[in-house]
Amino acid sequence: MRTLIVGASGLVGGALRAELPAATGTYLRHPAAGLLPLDITDAAAVDALVDRLRPALVLLPAAEPAVDRCETDPAESERVNVHGTGNVARAAARIGARFVYFSSDYVFDGTAGPYEVDAAPHPINVYGRHKLAAEALVRATVADHLIVRVCGVYGYQPEGKNFVMALARLGAAGEAMRVPSDQWGTPTYAPNLAAAVRELAASDHRGIVHPVGPDYLTRIDFARLAAEVLGHDDAFLVPVTTPELRQPAARPLRGGVANRSTQALLRTTRLVGAREGLGFMRRRLEAAAAP
Ligand SMILES: NC(=O)c1ccc[n+]([C@@H]2O[C@H](COP(=O)([O-])OP(=O)(O)OC[C@H]3O[C@@H](n4cnc5c(N)ncnc54)[C@H](OP(=O)(O)O)[C@@H]3O)[C@@H](O)[C@H]2O)c1
Repeated sequence: MRTLIVGASGLVGGALRAELPAATGTYLRHPAAGLLPLDITDAAAVDALVDRLRPALVLLPAAEPAVDRCETDPAESERVNVHGTGNVARAAARIGARFVYFSSDYVFDGTAGPYEVDAAPHPINVYGRHKLAAEALVRATVADHLIVRVCGVYGYQPEGKNFVMALARLGAAGEAMRVPSDQWGTPTYAPNLAAAVRELAASDHRGIVHPVGPDYLTRIDFARLAAEVLGHDDAFLVPVTTPELRQPAARPLRGGVANRSTQALLRTTRLVGAREGLGFMRRRLEAAAAP
C-alpha cells in the first residue's frame, strides 16, 4: 500500500519509517536521507505532495508536542496541531486515503487514568485542548480514520531527545535528573507502537485506539526501572512533585491510556511492558555503542 508518513524525522515517525521502509517520509527542521521537506501549516504544499504521491495511507505523527511551549504560545500550537492536522486530513480525504492521526493521553484531565477509548476527554492545558480539537477535525473530515492515542513514548534515537535517551545520558555521566513522582502513565516502546499501528492501519478498524504499553506506573518508578535495565545506579534520579517543577502547563497526574481493547484487535502484535521494551532499547544502545 503506497504510504506517506508526515513527520518521519521524529520519535514516532522514525519508528514508523523503520516498520514501513517502503513509505515516503517528510521532515520539517531535521532532514534525513530519503525524507522530503514539508510544513503541514502550508496547505498548498500539503496538497501538492499528496497529489504527487497519491498515497492510499497517510500517517500523521507530525505535531508541536512540547507541552509548555504550546502553553506559552497557543497561537503556534493551534497553527500546527489543529490547522496543520486539518490540512493533512483534508488532503487525505480528497484522494480517498486512509488517515492515521496521533493523539495523546493529554486529552484527559488525569483524575482517573488509565483511560479507556470511550472515556470522556477533558483537557487541562493548551496542548491537550488542541489535540482534542484535532481529533474532532479528523473525525469530521476523513471517514476512514484511526485516532492513535499514545503516552510516554520511548525508544532509541541517535540525537537523544526522549526521556529514556536523556536518562541514559545523565545516568552514564552521574548527573542529577529530576523526575516527577506524581505523574502516572503507560510507557510505550516506539518500535512496538509502530508495529501495532502498521497492523491496525492494515485492518478495517476505524476510530480511537490505544496501542500503548500495559504497565501503569509513575514517572519516577519508570525512571528507576530504566536505570536498572540500562545498568545505572539510580542515585542520580531525584524525585520531585509536579508543583515543584513550576512548569507553565498543568499536567494530568493520573494520566495514561488503557490498551486492553486495542490489544484485542491485534492478531500478531503483542503490546510489551516497560521492562521488556527497555530491554530492547538497551540492546539498541549497546549495538550503537559497539565499535
Ligand atoms: N512522545 C510521546 O511520548 C507522545 C505522547 C503523547 C502523544 N504524542 C504524539 O505523538 C506524535 C509524535 O510525537 P513524537 O514524540 O514523535 O514527536 P517528535 O519527536 O517531536 O516529532 C515531531 C515530528 O513533527 C514534525 N513537525 C513538527 N512541526 C511540523 C510542521 N509544522 N510541519 C511538518 N512537520 C512538523 C517534526 O519534524 P522535524 O523534527 O524535522 O522538525 C517531527 O518529525 C505527536 O502527535 C505527539 O503529540 C507523543
